Amino acid sequence: MLHTRLCDLFGIDYPVLNAPMGGGDAPAQLAAAVSEAGGLGLIGGTTMGGAEWLVAQIRLARDLTDRPFGVGFISHLPNAAELMAVALREGVRIVAHSFADPSPFVEAAHDVGAIVLCQVRTVDDARRAASAGVDVVTAQGTEAGGHTGLVSTFPLLPAVVDAVAPVPVVAAGGIADGRGIAAALMLGAEGVWLGTRFLATHECGTSDAYKERVVSATGDDTVLTDLFDIAVGMPWPEGVSGRAIRNRFVERWESREDELRTWAIEHRDQYRSLGGDTEVAERAIWAGEAASFVTGIESAADVVRDLVADAADVLTARPATVLRNP
Ligand SMILES: Cc1cc2nc3c(=O)[nH]c(=O)nc-3n(C[C@H](O)[C@H](O)[C@H](O)COP(=O)(O)O)c2cc1C
Repeated sequence: MLHTRLCDLFGIDYPVLNAPMGGGDAPAQLAAAVSEAGGLGLIGGTTMGGAEWLVAQIRLARDLTDRPFGVGFISHLPNAAELMAVALREGVRIVAHSFADPSPFVEAAHDVGAIVLCQVRTVDDARRAASAGVDVVTAQGTEAGGHTGLVSTFPLLPAVVDAVAPVPVVAAGGIADGRGIAAALMLGAEGVWLGTRFLATHECGTSDAYKERVVSATGDDTVLTDLFDIAVGMPWPEGVSGRAIRNRFVERWESREDELRTWAIEHRDQYRSLGGDTEVAERAIWAGEAASFVTGIESAADVVRDLVADAADVLTARPATVLRNP
């Protein structure tokens, strides 16, 4: 059975976390299902619904599971502190920050006994997070779906482990099966945080068309781009771009970023409201290189169960084949 320090810290069975995917992609149903299956569910706390949505989601998750779960935030946005305060007031005791210096958030969380995670994309940011006093650092490689940096998980993860020791590190980006989990643990991670693998689950908040596109895609189909962020007029911190499945919108606008920046407000509003048939071709279908391993729509509980069983198999079987006696 997989067991690391993080299981004891969070009070969970397996060190497998779902990524707190914003915009409603990681709602209460997903977080609760992952927690019920023995992992740690994280609600993506940043959505257009603000505090009211978040309160309803936390209460729903609590109706669905008695196990620990947390909430994650897109922390460079101005409402991050307010949303974290709402989560803490609702009794959430695990919070995750990303895309910002976590310093402004740590004290308020620790004051009520909450555990703070911070997702980073560089070794410098990992050091900054550890100095700020976070309890767990998540090292996110560029293979990740959604917004991410430029360094791959394989070199980033052990460098972050070394830089922040003894703070435990969770690996994110490109992990979607037992082999990936085993590799992350070998590189020094004490847990894994998966987004793309959970996109095609019944509990994920994305549309059916989105899920089907992730299932049909492979890692070769993804692109790291700023085009979608420019289109909706939402800037991200320096060094952060979004990984999505290449589509008609990317084909049309690639290398024409400056032109896209001149879009009128009405045009942006019109773009934001595109849905239905046009969603997959025109909007951002955020997904990572691990799309290659997403081959069907299943329940989040099945995903957690398979991941844990496969990782245990790999960790048991591989040494026997690699360390064969002469
Ligand atoms: C659809 C989607 C939405 C995401 N939204 C967020 C978010 O709101 N906040 C965040 O910290 N990370 C977000 N991420 C990134 C994840 O936290 C995580 O780093 C990533 O999914 C890990 O890589 P993987 O997709 O290969 O599993 C998102 C990822 C995806 C695929």
